[in-house]
Amino acid sequence: MTAATEHLQARQGSHRYEVHVGPGALDALPALLERHDRVAVVTCPPVARCAAGRRALAAARRGGKVALVHALPDGEAGKTLAQLERAAVKLLQAGLTRRSLVVSVGGGAVSDAAGFLAATFMRGVPWVAVPTTLLSMVDAALGGKTAVNLPVAKNAVGAFHPPAAVLADPRALATLPPRELRSGLGEVVKYALLEPALLGRVAALGARRPGADLIAACMRAKLQVVEADPTERGVRSLLNLGHTFGHGVEAAGRFDRYTHGEAVAVGLAFAFRLAARLGRVGPLAVAEAEAAIEGAGLPTRVPPAVARRAVDLMAHDKKRTAAGLRWVLPRQERGSAWTVEWDVAADAAAVAAAAREIAGA
Ligand code: GLY
Repeated sequence: MTAATEHLQARQGSHRYEVHVGPGALDALPALLERHDRVAVVTCPPVARCAAGRRALAAARRGGKVALVHALPDGEAGKTLAQLERAAVKLLQAGLTRRSLVVSVGGGAVSDAAGFLAATFMRGVPWVAVPTTLLSMVDAALGGKTAVNLPVAKNAVGAFHPPAAVLADPRALATLPPRELRSGLGEVVKYALLEPALLGRVAALGARRPGADLIAACMRAKLQVVEADPTERGVRSLLNLGHTFGHGVEAAGRFDRYTHGEAVAVGLAFAFRLAARLGRVGPLAVAEAEAAIEGAGLPTRVPPAVARRAVDLMAHDKKRTAAGLRWVLPRQERGSAWTVEWDVAADAAAVAAAAREIAGA
């Protein structure tokens, strides 16, 4: 039986867009191109070569408006100001105008860069996201955070520019390298820890690839939060569960030792351990969270040197924010499921103790 395609409605401020998830998602693409004069597809070489990329390109070409297919260098190398300039020149040379459309086909790095290109080209044109990795389906392509990196900081130059539509065909996940799939599972587990009602489904999935229904459930969880807080002034910070220590781990590993999802997984375990240290949750919640993380084939421990370095890097970040370091942490009342709160303070001793617990392998 073929899985059905789900249609979600997203709202971000006054902007509304549709999210299609399932094997029929790309069917919506030709109609989305109709009201535009020209279309630029922005992708990267490995995606352009794979079946999912070719399917997306064929669907875009059915609209008859594709003036340019621009390949960014793969990964973070495509997220630079130099690449942004190069791409914008290509769009101009291909005749794109203020009535044109950018279609991003790829993972998180491509959608971050293509979305920012769309946000800035001619002071902003619409874009459609066709995410081809799990991470970009459940996170990067949704919610309009677009950016490129500076040599000194990731995502330092960017804009909120929500897409005109998101078209996610989970068949793309069939050819993802296993580590890349697990990286996306880190964000899936995050949603299950934000919404414990999803925990059973995520635990049953283990390290396998999720289908359209679970991807759509994660997307719904994100879209609900983004709708309430489009530009991260408050509740959207919930989506950073596991990311504070996770970013420290990513940086401690110089951004190549751990994938984003692996670092977030360790950060999730850290968040639950810190919450336990602060008396916010009991040991069973920690065990349940770590079982879900490990069940997805993701780490809950890092070597002691990495844990120490992650804490140092977080302290460095703290000096740069006037409010100091605030945490996204679970809280559990006796006998009920936990809920997650943002903007939580934690003393340095509790942070250090949780880091020692995480320093296992
Ligand atoms: N990736 C977290 C957010 O979009 O807010």
